[in-house]
Amino acid sequence: MAEFSGVRANLYKESLREFPHARDEDIEVMKKYLAPKDNEVVLEIGAGSGFFSGILSDMVKQLTVSDPSNEQLEEVKDLNKDNIKLVEAGADTLNLEKETADAIWSFGAMHHCFNKTKAFQNFARILKRDGRLVIADVWHGSKLAQHFDDKVAKFCATGHEVAFWTDEFAESLCFLAGLETPKIHDLNIQWKFKTKAEIGTFLYKIHAMTKTTPQECLKGAEEILGIEKKDEMYCLNWPMKVMISKKK
Ligand SMILES: C[S@@+](CC[C@H](N)C(=O)[O-])C[C@H]1O[C@@H](n2cnc3c(N)ncnc32)[C@H](O)[C@@H]1O
Repeated sequence: MAEFSGVRANLYKESLREFPHARDEDIEVMKKYLAPKDNEVVLEIGAGSGFFSGILSDMVKQLTVSDPSNEQLEEVKDLNKDNIKLVEAGADTLNLEKETADAIWSFGAMHHCFNKTKAFQNFARILKRDGRLVIADVWHGSKLAQHFDDKVAKFCATGHEVAFWTDEFAESLCFLAGLETPKIHDLNIQWKFKTKAEIGTFLYKIHAMTKTTPQECLKGAEEILGIEKKDEMYCLNWPMKVMISKKK
């Protein structure tokens, strides 16, 4: 998987290591909408370098961590968790056994998957009856989609050719795969930083925007996403949505 290898994968890991609490609200989203239980087998899709994987593995019986980039997964291996199984595959190429997962979780990854129909067939096969599918991602027409299409696509080391979501397509995919009609919620996430300059550095690294500067990343983010100061922290708006469905 060329897109998330080399400089892109390294800068991604670096951003999360340098600002380990910037994305705390994302963890709250996972706890609220996935609500994992300690007797469950969970499959994570597009896990990247494992931002959720360590925490999630402590909350469940078994966690299968999948991503098409083996470089991203190396970091998850280093967590040394006994109940984590690594699978190098995209949502569309997963080849896991049928009816083995109580829940599937994915955050900020499915817009990279260009065969969502195949991915949803895989999800429907892998989920147990009543198993949950919880996908948080970027929706077409949102300020976040504007940020990615205007700034990240121009300045990211690898480009950013993606397929964002619509409510209608999420519903169609569930319908076609035999999953329940999804419930879709707005996520008014804010990523938090001590200084404004940190926001530029974080965005520069997490999106590998090596064709511009951290200062320009900050400027773009202020214009498009908006930054609010609350309790001495600079909060960057990160508007996503989450869809929740179930296997019938
Ligand atoms: C922005 S990262 C998100 C990583 C992690 N979920 C997080 O929140 O930090 C996107 C990830 O999607 C992965 N990806 C790319 N194509 C994919 C596909 N077809 N199916 C699933 N994941 C994919 C990339 O390798 C990358 O690790």
